[in-house]
Amino acid sequence: MTPQRIVVAIGGGIAAYKVAMLVSRLVQAEYRVEVVLTQGATHFVGQATFAALCGRTPTLDTYDSRYPLGPHIELAEGTDLLVIAPATARILASCALGLADDLLSTLYLACSCPVLMAPAMSAPMWDQPSVQRNVTTLRGDGVKMIGPTAGWLSCRKQGMGRMAEPEDILAAIVEKLS
Ligand SMILES: Cc1cc2nc3c(=O)[nH]c(=O)nc-3n(C[C@H](O)[C@H](O)[C@H](O)COP(=O)(O)O)c2cc1C
Repeated sequence: MTPQRIVVAIGGGIAAYKVAMLVSRLVQAEYRVEVVLTQGATHFVGQATFAALCGRTPTLDTYDSRYPLGPHIELAEGTDLLVIAPATARILASCALGLADDLLSTLYLACSCPVLMAPAMSAPMWDQPSVQRNVTTLRGDGVKMIGPTAGWLSCRKQGMGRMAEPEDILAAIVEKLS
């Protein structure tokens, strides 16, 4: 049987390092995993980590010459689920507005598969009316949100904004694809 294909898109938040574990678990569960890194994500995690974990070089650039039709088109084609983790405030805004101003938000528009987002940010960011408006818009557009949860944040405070744990994201993925 052809394995189900998941694109895991990683945003520029400190929780990006936890997504390495998620990708590893998905590969072990025999999903075919493609990784997209935003420019922000490259400050937190490296391409080599994800290339080794999923056996494919991650995609970072809208104009990547490996994809003559554009990676947003070729990655969207045949993909069963788009997972965005951590979904930064910028990603939420860009997808809610349909901006298509980077690879991830262009891929988001090109995908007709279900989308799962795991937002993560500081508590004051999460509480902003603009962020909450974007989350409401995305939910209305059919995006499934997992988290955030309350707990320890990288700004060294407790609060709402912590990315859902990789195990919980994995469970949500398996449920969505089963
Ligand atoms: C140390 C550090 C941690 C950050 N953590 C987050 C975060 O958890 N969530 C968030 O929305 N932005 C966070 N940011 C800001 C984003 O990196 C910034 O908005 C960036 O433009 C996001 O890019 P991307 O959405 O393309 O990945 C952080 C920035 C720094 C320097």
